[in-house]
Order: sequence, then structure tokens, then C-alpha cells
Amino acid sequence: MSVTEAPRIESRNPANLADLVAEVELGDPAAFVEACRAARAAQPEWAATPPPVRGRAIQLVGRLVEDNKEALARLLTREIGKPYAESLGEVQEVIDTCDFFLSEGRRLYGQTVPSEMPDKQLFTFRTPVGVAAVITAGNFPVAVPAWYLVPAILCGNAVVWKPADYAPALGQALTDLFLHGGVPDGVLKLVQADGEATFEGLERALGEGVLDKVGFTGSSAVGSRIGALCGRHLQSPCLELGGKNPLVVMPDAQLDLAVEGALFSGFGTAGQRCTSLGTAIVHESVHDEFMARFASAVERAPIGDPMQDVLYGPMIHERFHERFLAWLELIHGHHSVSGSTGTGRIDSGNPREGFVGDPEIGLYCHPTIVDGVRPDDELYATETFGPLVGVMPFAHFDQAVALANGHGYGLSAAIYTTRAEHAFRFRERCSAGMVSVNNSTSGAEAHLPFGGNGKSGNGSRQSGIWVLDQFTRWQALNWDYAGKLQKAQMDVAEVNAEPQFRLGPP
Ligand code: UN1
Repeated sequence: MSVTEAPRIESRNPANLADLVAEVELGDPAAFVEACRAARAAQPEWAATPPPVRGRAIQLVGRLVEDNKEALARLLTREIGKPYAESLGEVQEVIDTCDFFLSEGRRLYGQTVPSEMPDKQLFTFRTPVGVAAVITAGNFPVAVPAWYLVPAILCGNAVVWKPADYAPALGQALTDLFLHGGVPDGVLKLVQADGEATFEGLERALGEGVLDKVGFTGSSAVGSRIGALCGRHLQSPCLELGGKNPLVVMPDAQLDLAVEGALFSGFGTAGQRCTSLGTAIVHESVHDEFMARFASAVERAPIGDPMQDVLYGPMIHERFHERFLAWLELIHGHHSVSGSTGTGRIDSGNPREGFVGDPEIGLYCHPTIVDGVRPDDELYATETFGPLVGVMPFAHFDQAVALANGHGYGLSAAIYTTRAEHAFRFRERCSAGMVSVNNSTSGAEAHLPFGGNGKSGNGSRQSGIWVLDQFTRWQALNWDYAGKLQKAQMDVAEVNAEPQFRLGPP
């Protein structure tokens, strides 16, 4: 028997790489399957627990998160470098999600439905799916997992959660809060693993029949692999994937508002939200003015130490940092670049004017505005997860809509306008799952349906009542108390009508 050592990863503070946040042993595919088996064993008892009692557990988890809000937010900033104010907001999103779902335990409504026949009643019930595997990215390492975990657990499922392997301390911290809040151990199993081990674990667990649902938030490429795998097992996963989110600026827009929206959409969280602004599509009559104000706002924005008051901090992880540097190569000669005193990594050789703190100790990147993007540029259709915003002009509304949809993603889209017809026509014709009017492409509220179309997802929706359809299945019940067999469609009473009847002349 050969004994191989389990791989270990180090999680480092991206704002200060000398700060080791956690060291974690990664599980193999067998560990993932084992967690699914344990969840399978625990799930029936949890499903038999009355939903209001399950709701009480969610309430207590929410309270515990609230009482640990600052500690969790500090860990968030330390492990992935999100500015502290945003980290507090992200933890609040977990609390809001618990607040929303705690009472769902007292609803989880089914319906009573009229029957075709007398002495027969029809009903619908929501039943839990069973065991759900949840695989999440690390840019929202507690809020997005909570969008899955809270409703899945409330609905009576058991969950195996695989957090991002670059945010393992947060995975452990959130799991601890759930377990101390009263969620039984087998009902939530944490597996720390890398992507490939997880994929193999998923494959084996699906083959063995110990997994009934997969929820995944991450890249479109991985989402499509997971979708194909689930499809082979006749399952429909909940997929929340990338975005190339447009922000249309109409000639009638309030320009300062549009600039403020583009600044936060594009550069908040260093552009590392799936809802971050991809391309500002600006009417040619206001393009130059918009560009001047936007470039000046980005040049002046404080960037740096995420514990201070900054627009954004470091890249989440080395992996994101490297990929972002590669995407900068999509900038070509016909583009004009603005927004900072350089592009790429910020350091003493490539400084950013007004940088807050010491850029050398972390993974910081210059904000980059790329004007003159064309529809056939790779940059137009590529999600460049990081502080980069494209700008392109348009002449007619139809053209703006075509540019807003043409890249094939469909997560979030914004329009800045003062005219109702522009706002509603844009909503109608835009392919995104989420549309903002005079607001950022990012920053969705926790109880509206969240999700995308096209390359952004398979149409599944998270949050609010809509996510219940991901974690429950409708069961139909019919109960006949006529004391005889009544056959649907065949034993239905006829209606006596005179179809030839016509009104006489007036
Ligand atoms: C994500 O980036 O995966 O709407 C989620 C927003 C946040 C969630 C983003 N509430 O920007």
C-alpha cells in the first residue's frame, strides 16, 4: 500500500502576502463521496423535522452571524482582500438571507387545486430534493454560499459544501456558524478540495446515487462541464456563471449619476464580481463628456489597503492576479487607455498616484479604462474578471441593445436614462436576468431572483422565493373519496350547451 500525503494549501492575505491566514489539507475525490454518503444518511431525519423547527435553526444561525459580524467581516478582508465596508455588507447579506428564510419554514406553501371530478381533492407539496452539493467561488465567500445553504437546509436537504480553495478559512468559519446555530452535523458537510478532485467526487457521487442536486457558482467553462455531467445523470444543476455586464448611457442620462454607477460597477471589489461592469455603451453625443468625467473619477479614486476607506483593495488571489495580467493583453493599438498612472501590477516601478498603503506587499492592480472597444474585439466578449472597463459609443437605441446582448452573456445589465420608454424598452429587449435602471450592474438585493441566461447560467434563479424551486420538487397528490374509480378525462361531466345559438337582430 502506498501512502501519499494529502495536498495542503496555504491561504495568504492578498493585501499582505507575508500574512498566512490558514493552512488546510485538501480532500480527495473519495473524501467528497464520503461526505455525500454521510449527508445521505442524515437527510431523512432532517427532512422529517417540521419546517418551522428547521426555520428556527436558520433564525439562530442568522443571529450567530449577526453577533459575529465584525469578526467574520475582518476575516473576509484578511483572506480575500475585500474592503472592510464591503465585507460588512457581504456578511449582512448572509443575515438578510437568514431573515428571509427563517419564516419560510412556516410557509413552504403548497396548493389545493380543484379536481375535474366530484369527491376528489388535488394538492401540491414541496418535497426536499435530498443531498445537494454546493460549489462556490471565493469572491463572495460567505454571501453566495449562504444563498444556497440557507434555503437548501431550510427546505429539508442535506448539503455538502465545497468552498473556493483560496478561501478555506472562510469556508470553515461559516460552517462553524451554521453548526453552532443548530444545524446538525450531517446536514452540512464541509469539504475542502481543489476543482479537479471535486469534479471527480461529483462524478462518483452522482454515479453512486448519493447526490441529487448540484449548485455551482463560478466560470462559464466549469459550469458547462458541470452541466454536461449533471445532464448525463438527468439532473438540472443550479448554475450561476460569469457575466460581461453592459451599462448603457443614453443621451438623456444624468451623467454624474452614470459615472458614479460605472465607477462602483466597474471597480468596486476590484471588478471581481460576476455582476461587475464589463462595457459602458455610451451614446455618441455624450461619449466624450462621459469619458472625461469617468477617467477623472477613476484617476482620483483611492485604491489600496482594504482596511482603509478605499474603492478597492488587492486581487483576491494570485490566480486572479495572473489571469488579469493576461487579459490586459487584449488591449490593442486602436484602444485608448486611461484611469491610472500605469496598467498591470502596482508596485514601486509602476506606481499608482495616491495609492493607500504599501503596494509591494500585496497583489494590487491599476484600474484600467479601455475606450474604443469594437464589437469584433476579443475584449468585447471576454469576461475580464478584474479592474478593467471597456467603453464603446453607439448611435441608435437598437444598436445599444444589440451591443448589450451581443457577447452572449446575460447576467446583469444597466441603463442610465431619464425617460421611461428607454428604461422599459431596454428591459424588454435585454437578455440579462437582472436589469438596473439608473443603478449599478452589481449590488443585487438578497431577496430578488438572482441569475442569468446564455453563458451566464442555465436559467436557474437564486434568492427569494424563486430559489425554492431549486431545492424542492413539486409532488402532486390526488385523493379520491368517491368510493369508485373515476377516470380523469373520461368520467368528467359534460356541459350542456347549444353551440348553434345566435342572438336575433337588434
Ligand atoms: C457574485 O459576484 O457571484 O449583486 C455575486 C451583487 C452581489 C452578489 C454578486 N450581491 O453584486
